[in-house]
Amino acid sequence: MAASPGNRPISPTSSSAPSTELTTDPADGPTADQPRRQRVLYGRRSGPGLRAAQRERLTRLLPRLAIDLPDAGAIDPGALFTPERRRVWLEIGYGGGEHLAAQAAANPAVGLIGVEPFIDGVARLLAQVEAQELDNVRLLVDDARLLLDRLPEASIDRIFVLFADPWPKKRHWKRRIVNAETVARFADLLVDGGELRVATDDPGYRRWSLACLLGEERLDWCVQGPEDWRERPPDWPPTRYERKALAAGRRPVFLRFRRKSRTAELATSAE
Ligand SMILES: C[S@@+](CC[C@H](N)C(=O)[O-])C[C@H]1O[C@@H](n2cnc3c(N)ncnc32)[C@H](O)[C@@H]1O
Repeated sequence: MAASPGNRPISPTSSSAPSTELTTDPADGPTADQPRRQRVLYGRRSGPGLRAAQRERLTRLLPRLAIDLPDAGAIDPGALFTPERRRVWLEIGYGGGEHLAAQAAANPAVGLIGVEPFIDGVARLLAQVEAQELDNVRLLVDDARLLLDRLPEASIDRIFVLFADPWPKKRHWKRRIVNAETVARFADLLVDGGELRVATDDPGYRRWSLACLLGEERLDWCVQGPEDWRERPPDWPPTRYERKALAAGRRPVFLRFRRKSRTAELATSAE
């Protein structure tokens, strides 16, 4: 993906009350006197206009699926779903939601949490949730880092970050959603043997992501050979940005990392 959707910061809102309000304050993140909840997002929060049916779905369906983050304390992701859904997967920045909807349909025993601040993307996902009658999807319409801060250790079975905005300019690198801090958080949140999937078509972001991921010693890269990271696994549905990349002649990479066992970590630290 050559360009990100925009570069104006977006004011945060409550998870269940999406807003299109834009701020003009380009603060790069929370400061000491700024609570985490007031994270500033970058990129578009809404497009040129939602159709009436999309607006209606947002009003009717989103309140039922939206995760309402409390102001403090951890949330139990399993409690968002019916009790038989013991495994929870998390997709960050799902865009139009085609991957999330396909995974939810293919894995009815799994609870899928999607986090996406771009309201047009949320509207597109809701159309698929309704058409496919998916009842294993919950959504946060906000900055994913707000949720990462609230989830307990070892509570997520799989995390997807697919074709995240690459922020190619050096002065914008701190905006990248894959960074040493979030990767460490992913390692905290994944269960033993849980999987982190990252895709990108941007060479700079690929190098950056690999450096962050390989620097996290609690994760193992599941790579079999020099070519397999170029092939999307069969249980990994394609996304709109993958199609855009291929159409533009850019070949994506599909990175899979597995969370190491905590028992092995304890044994190593006791040595
Ligand atoms: C380039 S798009 C990729 C969309 C989709 N994953 C795909 O492959 O088609 C990146 C998405 O990440 C979302 N995003 C950006 N910052 C985010 C954040 N802090 N938390 C959650 N999503 C974010 C954007 O709104 C956008 O929809």
